[in-house]
Amino acid sequence: MGIAANDPTRAFRLDGKVAFISGAAQGLGAQIAQTLAAAGASVFLSDVQAEAVEKTAAAIRQAGGKAASIRHDVTVEAEWDAAIAKAVSTFGGLDILVNNAGVEDMALITEASLETFKRIQDINVTGTFLGLKYAIRAMRPGGAAGNSGSIINLSSLAAMIGVTGLSAYCASKGAVRSMTKAAAIECAQLGTGIRVNSVHPGVIKTAMGNHLLEGFVRLGLVPDLATAEAAMGQLHPLGMGEPADVANAVLYLASGAARWTTGAEIVLDGGAAAQ
Ligand SMILES: NC(=O)c1ccc[n+]([C@@H]2O[C@H](COP(=O)([O-])OP(=O)(O)OC[C@H]3O[C@@H](n4cnc5c(N)ncnc54)[C@H](O)[C@@H]3O)[C@@H](O)[C@H]2O)c1
Repeated sequence: MGIAANDPTRAFRLDGKVAFISGAAQGLGAQIAQTLAAAGASVFLSDVQAEAVEKTAAAIRQAGGKAASIRHDVTVEAEWDAAIAKAVSTFGGLDILVNNAGVEDMALITEASLETFKRIQDINVTGTFLGLKYAIRAMRPGGAAGNSGSIINLSSLAAMIGVTGLSAYCASKGAVRSMTKAAAIECAQLGTGIRVNSVHPGVIKTAMGNHLLEGFVRLGLVPDLATAEAAMGQLHPLGMGEPADVANAVLYLASGAARWTTGAEIVLDGGAAAQ
C-alpha cells in the first residue's frame, strides 16, 4: 500500500479488494457499488429489496464487474452476521464496508409518532452499529477476513444543520456522525488497522431526496414541488449534486489514498454547510 499511496494512478484502485454495501438496490448505494466495482473491487450488495438488489448486482456483472447480492435487513443482528460471513465466503475476504442503508420520514415534532421515530433510529443507527460490529470482527487481525479495512458510514448534512420536519432523521445522522468517530478511535487504538469515516451529503435526487421534497409540501412548509426544488437549489450554492458526487468520495475513503484518514467527516453538499 505504501508505494501505491504515492502513485496517483494506482492510489484509488481497489483491485483485489472486497466491498460490502448495504442498501444497495437503488440510489446512492447502487451508485457506490458501481463505482467501487469500476475501481476493481468485488462488490457484495445487500438490501431488504431482494429482487431489486440482485438486478443492480446483475447490471454490474453485465458491465464486467464482480458482484453478488443478498437480501438483508440491517436491523436484524443475525442477518448481519450471516451477510458478512457470506461476503467473506463468496469473495474470499472483506476490506470495505459502506453502511449506506437508511430511511427518512418527515413530521413536525408535535405530530411525529414514537413508532416512526424509533424505526428511523433502528435502521439508521442500530443498522450502522451492527454493520460496524460484524465488519470489524471480520476485518481485525484474526478475523474471518483479517486484513484490516475501511468502513464508510452514510451520515448527512442533516447531522450538521437543523431542518424543520426532520428531527428524527437529524438525530439519527448525528448519532452516526459521533459513532463513526468513536469507532475510528477504538479501531486505531486497538491496532486493528481499520479506518472509519463518515460522508455527509446534501440533498441528492434519489427516491429519498424526492420524498424529502414532497415532505416539505405535505407539511405545508412550501406551496408546491416547484418551490421546494427552488429552495433546494438555493440551499446548495453549487446547485444540486448527483449520486456520483457521493460515490467518488466513498471511493477515496475506501482506497489506499486515504490511508491516514480516520474519524473524518467529508461534507458533500455543494457548499450548503459553509453558508
Ligand atoms: N438522497 C439524499 O439526499 C441523501 C442525503 C444525505 C444522506 N443520505 C443517506 O444516503 C443513504 C442512501 O440514501 P438514498 O438517497 O440512496 O435512499 P434510497 O431510499 O434511494 O435507498 C435506500 C436503500 O436502503 C434500503 N433499506 C431501507 N431499509 C433497509 C433495511 N432495514 N435494511 C436494508 N436495506 C434497507 C432501501 O430498500 C433502499 O434500497 C441513506 O443512509 C441516506 O440517509 C441520502
